[in-house]
Amino acid sequence: MNKIEKRSHWMLDEVKSAGRENLDAEHAFQYDIKEDASVMEELALMKMLGLNEQSEVVDIGAGTGQFTLAVAPLCTRIVAVDVSPVMLDVLKAKVSESRLPNIEVVQSGFLTYEHQGRQADFVYSRYALHHLPDFWKALAFQRLGHIVRTGGVFRLWDIVYNFEPSEADDRLNTWCAKLSDDPKDGWIRADLEEHIRDEHSTFTWLLEPMIERAGFSIEEAVYSPDGIFARYVARAI
Ligand SMILES: C[S@@+](CC[C@H](N)C(=O)[O-])C[C@H]1O[C@@H](n2cnc3c(N)ncnc32)[C@H](O)[C@@H]1O
Repeated sequence: MNKIEKRSHWMLDEVKSAGRENLDAEHAFQYDIKEDASVMEELALMKMLGLNEQSEVVDIGAGTGQFTLAVAPLCTRIVAVDVSPVMLDVLKAKVSESRLPNIEVVQSGFLTYEHQGRQADFVYSRYALHHLPDFWKALAFQRLGHIVRTGGVFRLWDIVYNFEPSEADDRLNTWCAKLSDDPKDGWIRADLEEHIRDEHSTFTWLLEPMIERAGFSIEEAVYSPDGIFARYVARAI
């Protein structure tokens, strides 16, 4: 069932929850100018963790595919999964221009993607999970636990708050103050305010038990000094 299909009436609508900007064609078109997904460092890490030409990789919330396109020459199969038709349009255009034969693009999400073939060696996800409220994050992790093989790696990088609730005012105001209101600068302060208000970034101390409960062992957790970003290497056990 590799498509957006609600299996039950109570299922979250992953497209509606994908974030206003991610459904906006203009934003999708501009995304690679605004955002650098640091793929060279990410690939170096993945190679250290065992990525090789036999590896099967799934990129969930792939967006415009910066990571997908970069990892493709280094692995045997990469499946790029995203719910947003406009982000996928940009990704598909890049895939067809690249002529890389091992990229599959699937319109689906954390809660709906059905992996075909052997289990993946790596599941990668950057800046996408925060679109799910916490209950759904727990379900997403449980599903990812079936996609990745035992011993395989789940690399997660997201906006995750590494501070106490009592610090939220100070930390979040400081974060927002880092950006201006000038759209020429790329991301603007209102983007961060919208993220905090309308999306579902959670605390590290809530997220990590969810990851572990889904059968992953967290091998590395790196937090940005401002307490806003977290990067995890988790292994399926
Ligand atoms: C900020 S972009 C990140 C794209 C890319 N991973 C990167 O690091 O540049 C977030 C992406 O997550 C996607 N997304 C949102 N909700 C999702 C879900 N439930 N399942 C899969 N992808 C989702 C959005 O459509 C969007 O393309």
